[in-house]
Amino acid sequence: MTKTLVINYTPRNGSYTQILRDEFVKLAKSKTEMTYLDLAKTPPDLLVAENLNLVMDWNQGKRDFSDLELTVLANHHKLIDQVLENDHIVLACPIYNFSIPAAVKAWIDAVVVSDKTFYFNPETGFKGLCTDKKVVSIMVSGFDYTQSLEVKEYASSTLKQNFDFMGMASQQISAYGVDQNRDQLDSILGNAKQEIKTVVEEWYPN
Ligand SMILES: Cc1cc2nc3c(=O)[nH]c(=O)nc-3n(C[C@H](O)[C@H](O)[C@H](O)COP(=O)(O)O)c2cc1C
Repeated sequence: MTKTLVINYTPRNGSYTQILRDEFVKLAKSKTEMTYLDLAKTPPDLLVAENLNLVMDWNQGKRDFSDLELTVLANHHKLIDQVLENDHIVLACPIYNFSIPAAVKAWIDAVVVSDKTFYFNPETGFKGLCTDKKVVSIMVSGFDYTQSLEVKEYASSTLKQNFDFMGMASQQISAYGVDQNRDQLDSILGNAKQEIKTVVEEWYPN
């Protein structure tokens, strides 16, 4: 059976993104083995000075570590292992301030890692190491970005760039305009649910 990592950042009570994430889980749960990661309940540690240097010291095998440091490192490494262990990844989050929420960026910062999810060689350049993985992001926004050339969002391009960099084949399901076009909420969510069904049928054909 394939393995799927389902990640969500959906802190708002009544979250539309959570509704779409739940739709994916409902349709796919009998077809794949799922691991869940709720970034609103267990956000990755930020790479503040202490944590970044801890990770770098670990990578260089420089010194012994305290029990507390080992716990921080284990939490950090678990995020990378989850990516490496799964065939498919679903990432569901809203757009905050034209980009991805901070906890989602912290997850990206934890899992885009040299010699784990990508490789760099000065002669051949960068190479993604996750070419066996597929990812879909489910993105909800208050504003309808398809209706404006002046107001842009950078969440989609940020995620795609990082997934491309790790070698993953990515696609996005966008439910844009849930606040701006509240009268069309049912059809916005309905269209996204239809796209989720298509992805589930593609990913788990049997
Ligand atoms: C802190 C914050 C920042 C937001 N920034 C944006 C934004 O830049 N663009 C946008 O279209 N909607 C923005 N919104 C609106 C949300 O994307 C929208 O309400 C969406 O439904 C939230 O997802 P949820 O229903 O899963 O909570 C923001 C909402 C919050 C709480």
